[in-house]
Amino acid sequence: MSTTSDAVVYNPYEYEIHEDPYPTYQRLRDEAPLYRNDEMDFWALSRHADVLEGFRDFERFSNAHGVSLDPAASGPHAHKTMSFLAMDPPMHGRMRGLVSRGFTPRRVAELEPRIRRIARDYITEMVERGSVDFIADFAGRLPMDVISEMMGVPVADREELRRLSDLLVHREPGVHDVPPEGMAAALELVVYYADMLAQRKAQPTDDLTSALLAAEIDGDRLTDDEITGFLFLMVVAGNETTTKLLANAWYWAWRNPDQRAKPFEDASYIPMWVEETLRYDTSSQMLARVTTTDVELYDRVIPAGDRVVLLAGSANRDPRVFSDPDRYDLDRPEPLPQLASFGFGRHFCMGASLARLEARVALEELVRAFATYDVDPSGIERVHSVNVRGFAAVPTTVTVRPGYTVPEGDA
Ligand code: HEM
Repeated sequence: MSTTSDAVVYNPYEYEIHEDPYPTYQRLRDEAPLYRNDEMDFWALSRHADVLEGFRDFERFSNAHGVSLDPAASGPHAHKTMSFLAMDPPMHGRMRGLVSRGFTPRRVAELEPRIRRIARDYITEMVERGSVDFIADFAGRLPMDVISEMMGVPVADREELRRLSDLLVHREPGVHDVPPEGMAAALELVVYYADMLAQRKAQPTDDLTSALLAAEIDGDRLTDDEITGFLFLMVVAGNETTTKLLANAWYWAWRNPDQRAKPFEDASYIPMWVEETLRYDTSSQMLARVTTTDVELYDRVIPAGDRVVLLAGSANRDPRVFSDPDRYDLDRPEPLPQLASFGFGRHFCMGASLARLEARVALEELVRAFATYDVDPSGIERVHSVNVRGFAAVPTTVTVRPGYTVPEGDA
């Protein structure tokens, strides 16, 4: 790699990277497809083929130290907060297998009417007010409500859980670790779920928490700590990311009015609106691994035990795979090539179909209610997190469709 002063530098904690990482990704793919940051002690892979291979090759690229660069969230203890996302086979397969007994495609599909109802309730508020913050009033509420609904969290507790999970991922400038408020929030969440578990043991219901308590394979069951860890992982993995997906769809359509017009004129564009947003600006930008052995790539050797980040956000913009990748285009030929947004292989996102369902239903209901919308750029705020990319505030004015009334029921 070049050592000249203009050699590409990639620091995922920098605010400029949060603002727009894509020019840096392009340079990484072209100039340093195996990038080394000595100061921060990590490697990075940015090309589509390399990122997917890194995901696939779980034997050499291990999850056992977690998937984050943050010191407090990485290391051999990572599975305590990241559950089986921070495990390798065979532990990973055992836990994912048991959890799959509760987290079934059917349970996800059955949520559709509830998701629609939750979306409509928030849209009713948006209709009444006209000017809203798309995050605080919609995208920041719906995914956590859906997860809480699935887990069996009472409505009254949901807002507080959302606040805690937001604290968990927020980083002030220059802070390269989980801050004390984030640690405290993590602890509160764990305590909350442990309590909920105790209640379900005493009185089982038909929610996911009860299903996890009942899950069994050949006499093997999940322990209380394992279930709490998984509930915690759902909040970390499924809440922030889906909020960001919704708001990224909203934001990029606004930035590209010719594209925005398509789903508002023809709702059959909505699945592609979701997919193109996942490709163009995914909320899960990078996942870390630790090498289990020396790995030779691009004439260099990554020593065993080193950290490697897989840049999913860069893979999705690789022109080797996607034509005109920097264009946000809802008319791309379907199906799209394999996206890196949900990972690949053994750790492929367990909630991918839920995230897609939520996004589709939410956007369907928004398009049904509104003829169009506008965003006030002066009020937009970004979330500053190393893994999650998206917005903290998107001030929006909506134009309600003439004659729109909130549909009755859930269908
Ligand atoms: C747009 C929304 C989402 C994105 C972009 C996303 C992204 C990802 C990615 C990239 C991975 C793989 C991580 C790795 O290989 O290191 C992952 C794993 C996971 N995700 Fe998601 N996710 C989303 C929504 C959700 C939702 C809604 C849930 C559940 C409610 C969820 C639960 C999980 C779980 C449990 C894993 C761990 C799977 C394993 O290790 O076997 N995710 N997600």
